[in-house]
Amino acid sequence: MAEVIIVKDQHQAGRIYARAVADLIKQKPTAVLGLATGSSPLAAYEELASIIYTEHIDVSHVRGFALDEYIGLPLSHPQSYHSTIWRTVVEPLGLNPANVHVPGDALNGAPLSDGSKVAHAGEKYDQAIAAAGGVDVQILGIGTDGHVGFNEPGSSLASGTRIKTLAEQTRNDNARFFNGDVSQVPTHCITQGIGTILKARHLVLLAFGEAKAEAVAETVEGGVSAFCPASALQLHPHATVIVDEQAASRLRNKDYYRWAYAHKPVWQSI
Ligand code: F6R
Repeated sequence: MAEVIIVKDQHQAGRIYARAVADLIKQKPTAVLGLATGSSPLAAYEELASIIYTEHIDVSHVRGFALDEYIGLPLSHPQSYHSTIWRTVVEPLGLNPANVHVPGDALNGAPLSDGSKVAHAGEKYDQAIAAAGGVDVQILGIGTDGHVGFNEPGSSLASGTRIKTLAEQTRNDNARFFNGDVSQVPTHCITQGIGTILKARHLVLLAFGEAKAEAVAETVEGGVSAFCPASALQLHPHATVIVDEQAASRLRNKDYYRWAYAHKPVWQSI
């Protein structure tokens, strides 16, 4: 079972993540960070940026691999995950852009129809992660349907990085980032698979708000099932789930999680 930490708000969660990552970078200046887009990790990135500056941590050798990207959007499009990772991670943390990779980078906006580029992009991305020595800490958000990355319900729990068709629901949800026009939302994406994500040495899933409560309960206390792809975290030897009270509201074992965290040995990090 994952360690579950119930916090007051996103900033407290962010400080827990940031402390662990900052300590990792001090020990391993070439640390490999697994990066996510979306709203859930934003406070964590801000807290990490703040620690990096106040503690003068050298991040010039830190590497990063993002989870996912739309197919067919130019890298420079403001809603491409390439641009989003630049804005929310690379710039504020002061990372070397050459060290940070997004699954669509090699496609450079190529359309889905361009099989010569698109067909093997996933395998190549997994090879690049492996060549970097694997991801040390992977930050994750979760969808209300239990998706992680763009692995929608039904995704293979052994999947590698690959092309996926976006669910109609996800395209409708994301239309708000495309002037409310669903026709502008790409139909396909490239996403790290659940099997890829499980290879990271430490997984940190962040979830906030009532809308995530059911997905969190399914992930932590439900059965392991492709119907809730995030439930694959139960198979990982080092997974940390950090949630606020609202996202924790449907967990049955809340009292135990609080007790365990309050009695954690001081020497033990997340
Ligand atoms: C982001 C990603 C998605 C989001 C999830 C939650 O790269 O892959 O799985 O983490 O949709 O999104 P937010 O955090 O915006 O609620």
